[in-house]
Amino acid sequence: MMARWTRALVTGASSGIGEAMARQLHAEGTELVLVARSLDKLTALADEFGGDTQVLQADLTTPSGVERTVGRIREEPMIDLLVNNAGAGRTAAFADDDVDKQVAQIDLNVTAVVHLAHAAITAMRPRRTGTIINISSVAGYSPVPNTGVYGATKAFVSSFSQALYEEERPNGVTVTAVAPGFTRTDFQDEAEFDTSGIPDFLWQSAEQVATVALEGAFKGKAMVIPGAHNKALVGSIKGLPTSVQRRLAGLF
Ligand SMILES: NC(=O)c1ccc[n+]([C@@H]2O[C@H](COP(=O)([O-])OP(=O)(O)OC[C@H]3O[C@@H](n4cnc5c(N)ncnc54)[C@H](OP(=O)(O)O)[C@@H]3O)[C@@H](O)[C@H]2O)c1
Repeated sequence: MMARWTRALVTGASSGIGEAMARQLHAEGTELVLVARSLDKLTALADEFGGDTQVLQADLTTPSGVERTVGRIREEPMIDLLVNNAGAGRTAAFADDDVDKQVAQIDLNVTAVVHLAHAAITAMRPRRTGTIINISSVAGYSPVPNTGVYGATKAFVSSFSQALYEEERPNGVTVTAVAPGFTRTDFQDEAEFDTSGIPDFLWQSAEQVATVALEGAFKGKAMVIPGAHNKALVGSIKGLPTSVQRRLAGLF
C-alpha cells in the first residue's frame, strides 16, 4: 500500500491501539514520531522501524510533557497526521478514589488532546492539508457509573472532535473521532477493570481498531465506530432514555 500520510505523530505509541497504528503506518512507509512515557518500549520500536523514526518521551499529564510534544508538532519536518491516542481510565466510585488520580484522566484524555489538536491545526491550515485522529470510546455515549470521569472525558473527545471537523472542513484539515469498544490491550488492567464477565464476541484486537481508524480518517469521516457490534450498541444506547442508559452502563 502507498503511504497515505508522510509523517505521523502518535501519542501512546508504546502499546495497544497506538502501537498497532504506528506499526500499520510504518508498514506503508509513513515516518513516525512516537510519544509515550516508556522510553524503553519506544526505543525498541524505533530500532525495529529504523529510518527517520523519532522518539519523544513525554508524560502528557504534565504541562512540560505537553509543551515538548506541541514543540515537535510545530517543528519541521512537519507532520501531516496527529493521532491523539494516549489515554487512561480508572474504575472506582468517584468519592472513594484519590481525586488527583481522577483529575489526571482529564489532564491526559482532555487537556493534552486540546493542546496537541490546536498546535496541529494551526500548523496544518496554511498547507490546507492534514489529518487529526482523536481516540474516544463507546464509553462517551452514556454516563458510566464507577468510571464517570473517564466516560465524561470521552464524551468531550467525541463532541470536541466533531465540532472541529465542521470548523476545519473548509480549511483542508480533517478531524476524525474514533470510538472503540472493548479492545484487547493493557488498558483494562491499568484501569483495574474486571473483564471476566465480558463475552468474547464483544472484543476486538488493537490491530482491528487501528485498521478501521486509519481507513475512516483517510476517507475523511467525522466519527468512526469500529465493529458492527459496537455500532449496534451505540445505536441502541442512543434510543434509550438517559435514566436507562446510565443504569445499564453501571452493570458493566
Ligand atoms: N482498550 C479498550 O478497551 C479501549 C476502548 C475504548 C477506547 N480506548 C482508548 O484507546 C486509547 C489507547 O488505549 P489502549 O487500549 O491502547 O491502552 P494501553 O495499551 O494501555 O495504551 C495506552 C497508551 O497511552 C500511553 N499513556 C498512558 N498514560 C500516559 C501519559 N501520562 N503520558 C503519555 N502517554 C501515556 C501509554 O504509554 P506509557 O505507559 O508508556 O506512557 C500507552 O502507550 C485510549 O485513549 C483509550 O481510552 C481503549
